[in-house]
Amino acid sequence: MAFELPELPYEYEALQPFMSKETLEYHHDKHHKAYVDNGNKLAAEAGMEGKSVEEVVKASFGKNAGLFNNAAQHYNHIHFWKWMKKGGGGKSLPARLQKAIDSDLGGYDKFRADFINAGTTQFGSGWAWVAVRDGKLEISKTPNGENPLVHGGDPILGVDVWEHSYYIDYRNARPKYLEAFVDSLINWDYVLERYEAATK
Ligand code: FE2
Repeated sequence: MAFELPELPYEYEALQPFMSKETLEYHHDKHHKAYVDNGNKLAAEAGMEGKSVEEVVKASFGKNAGLFNNAAQHYNHIHFWKWMKKGGGGKSLPARLQKAIDSDLGGYDKFRADFINAGTTQFGSGWAWVAVRDGKLEISKTPNGENPLVHGGDPILGVDVWEHSYYIDYRNARPKYLEAFVDSLINWDYVLERYEAATK
């Protein structure tokens, strides 16, 4: 199936003041759309237009950089929009997720510090992640469009640290953006949904 740009699961103003309407308009309508359009063109050229986005990401990694970058960024952004919600973030986690963070990541405060640190220390464009690998949670960071799918993991939470994700609202203050993401934006219900799917 061809890649399609999903609609945002909330209004463009919904995440203010932590993420502006202007950021979402550029990030979703321009950047994500370009990944979809370029991904479709390159997938067709590679004879992979019938494959799912996950299949294209895994098959193109290390083999077709142009296709991989666009397909992986399409995958990452599909989930990124859903990893945020109005009134999200903070310490009120679903019990099952809290338990996994306590046992695998050393508790909420350590998760918060380590996740923000991963995003802050990713040099240049990329992502910070929480993924399930071999049944356990782990925090990682990746450059550009790369994601845990190509490293044997199943991402359950990710934050975009490309400048297009924060520069309008935070300028160069990437740590402030990451703190706002964790404290005020994370949609823990969607993280739980991803966790349950990854640990079935
Ligand atoms: Fe992005």
